[in-house]
Amino acid sequence: MNTPSASLPGGTWTLGDLTVTRLGYGAMQLAGPGVMGPPADHDGALAVLREAVGLGITHMDTAGAYGPRVTNRLIREALHPYPGSLHIVTKVGAVRDQQGGWLPARQPEDLRRAVHENLEDLGLDSLDVVNLRLGDARGLQPGSLAEPFEALAELRRQGLVRHLGVSNVTAEQIAEAQTIAPIVCVQNMYNLAYRQDDDLIDDLAGQGIAYVPFFPLGGFTPLQSTALSAVAARLDATPMSVALAWLLRRSPNILLIPGTSSVAHLRENAAGAGLALSDADLAELDEIGH
Ligand SMILES: NC(=O)c1ccc[n+]([C@@H]2O[C@H](COP(=O)([O-])OP(=O)(O)OC[C@H]3O[C@@H](n4cnc5c(N)ncnc54)[C@H](OP(=O)(O)O)[C@@H]3O)[C@@H](O)[C@H]2O)c1
Repeated sequence: MNTPSASLPGGTWTLGDLTVTRLGYGAMQLAGPGVMGPPADHDGALAVLREAVGLGITHMDTAGAYGPRVTNRLIREALHPYPGSLHIVTKVGAVRDQQGGWLPARQPEDLRRAVHENLEDLGLDSLDVVNLRLGDARGLQPGSLAEPFEALAELRRQGLVRHLGVSNVTAEQIAEAQTIAPIVCVQNMYNLAYRQDDDLIDDLAGQGIAYVPFFPLGGFTPLQSTALSAVAARLDATPMSVALAWLLRRSPNILLIPGTSSVAHLRENAAGAGLALSDADLAELDEIGH
């Protein structure tokens, strides 16, 4: 369900029974370089998290693998005890090696350990939403998710997790997950220039399931396109604002989790996502991903 919110562009969405602002925040950028270790500016990272809540953002995306165990502990330090309106979404299914590589960790015991670490680091008795993260460095990897997803469904039955989602998944894997337990969100890579999930987004919208694009601003390679720059210049806005506003317009089930380690960028993104785009702007932007 999508309803207007007075304070932030895009209004709100309900994940299961949890209402969140469609404009959220992704905490991955708060860890050190390569998403490893502590941030260079610890107090700056806390300030970003507090500003997110101050702006009225109630959806925060994180993972135990960020740091590892760095962003979750920063979130706890900055915001615990959490406002009742704030909902933290985390991911399990990957661990880090010494070089910062992302290794699959999807055996049932890996997932149980990851859920307990997230609970401990975030200072919670129950996690609002846990995404099972599949895929690997090469991208999506087809194949059954039954064993890991059943393990998470069991943790949900035990009350350690309120809602489940999936990440880095194919449409077939989503359908398989839904035979095991309900899902409230799908988190895959998607942005103005990378639109592999167009059909999936529309299908999930029809089912009332949120689609949460990661790398909404291009991730480690910022979005760059002549058409995007042209529309931004015409509107006297930044390309980032246009990219976020376009996502909010793309479908009502899209929730934004742009990442930043900067209070100024966070404010820019919160304001910029509200940019009004005309039909002509949308048509021009639509060409980028095709
Ligand atoms: N499920 C998955 O496998 C997966 C994978 C990747 C990410 N994620 C999630 O998705 C979230 C978003 O992804 P992301 O942070 O990697 O990518 P992103 O949101 O596409 O882009 C973040 C980058 O954009 C920069 N940026 C943000 N706002 C800006 C602004 N107003 N002006 C200029 N630069 C700006 C940031 O730098 P500054 O810090 O300098 O602002 C950062 O380098 C993550 O936080 C994470 O929670 C999930």
